[in-house]
Amino acid sequence: MTESQFSQFSHSGNFRPANGNAWHAAWQSPSNIALVKYWGKKEGQLPVNASLSMTLDRAFTRTRLDAVVGDAVPGLVSVNGDPGHPFIPKMQHLLDMVTGEIPLLGKLTFTAETENSFPHSTGIASSASGISAFALCLLDIARQVTDREIPGKDWMQMVSNASRLGSGSACRSVYGGFTVWGRTDLLAGSSDAFAVALSGEVHPAMMSLCDAILIVSSEQKEVASTQGHRSMDLHPFRQGRVIQANSNLEETLRALAANDFEKLGDIAENEALSLHALLMSASPGVILLKPGTLGIIRIVRAQRKSGIPLFFTLDAGANVHLLYPRAVAADVETVIREELAAFCEEGRVIYDHCGTGPALLTVRDENQSG
Ligand code: PMV
Repeated sequence: MTESQFSQFSHSGNFRPANGNAWHAAWQSPSNIALVKYWGKKEGQLPVNASLSMTLDRAFTRTRLDAVVGDAVPGLVSVNGDPGHPFIPKMQHLLDMVTGEIPLLGKLTFTAETENSFPHSTGIASSASGISAFALCLLDIARQVTDREIPGKDWMQMVSNASRLGSGSACRSVYGGFTVWGRTDLLAGSSDAFAVALSGEVHPAMMSLCDAILIVSSEQKEVASTQGHRSMDLHPFRQGRVIQANSNLEETLRALAANDFEKLGDIAENEALSLHALLMSASPGVILLKPGTLGIIRIVRAQRKSGIPLFFTLDAGANVHLLYPRAVAADVETVIREELAAFCEEGRVIYDHCGTGPALLTVRDENQSG
């Protein structure tokens, strides 16, 4: 975390609870799908290459964070009422990192309530939405505790910076549309420390891109992404990967500006297959693709030959994200129903699209189920 970014919080003022000695914040934050993948880290949770993602809409996490000051033990003491909840270590780690910069937070006792809009057992990574929702709540409470007015743009940058410390890809979820994380000469203002939103650089038609997530396997991933990133440290293709990612980023930025969906999809597929090629050629090598993944890819490519603009991308797992313009949504849904759902666990598909980013929740929103 860069000091200059958080110095606005580091005054030594007293607590000013808005409501007795308690604060609360509640945010909804979406997941995102990388078109140019982040794969490999440098010291300090910084990426070896710049990545670009599309923020989703329907796959999101809602989190409410409550903080009190008093006699209780400081730190995050429960999630969904459970003091042993499996999310606690990752969230506490993020809280510790942010507390390093905003010491006032170290005096508070936190409890969190959190839920995903997508079922837990889908194998969809929830860390991007979960960590960014938690970071939003945390820095919202920090803002209330320190009673500071921080311009929205600077605050979002801080949230992105904090999210990155919890999970790299989470830093891209704090903005809607398309987002770039990582320093690159291709984009003014880009940074390794936080993501930036693309705005004027994207053709408006691209903002309605669809993503249908085909759940091929809901199994826990064989390799955690932390291990996967580490496998790039001594990977024989590391240097080549950086060159490839930079060139793919350049082409993707161009395709987004020109509304060139074919180009965008072509690169997304190249990135997805390259990510898995890197996984397979690491030491030890891992195969995360399943027969169903390959079956879907074969049909997607055949459909394209028959004229439907349909492309795929993959995360570090077996599930397939189908990318297509909204104009062909009905045709794609027919293909999914008739040919692709058979490869999915219990025929599961999540229909999503490009989203507008996180939302502050009111008490009424919080009471509505995802
Ligand atoms: O944010 P992490 O550490 O879970 O890594 C994400 C890695 C990929 O999902 C494979 C690619 C990406 O850029 O999101």
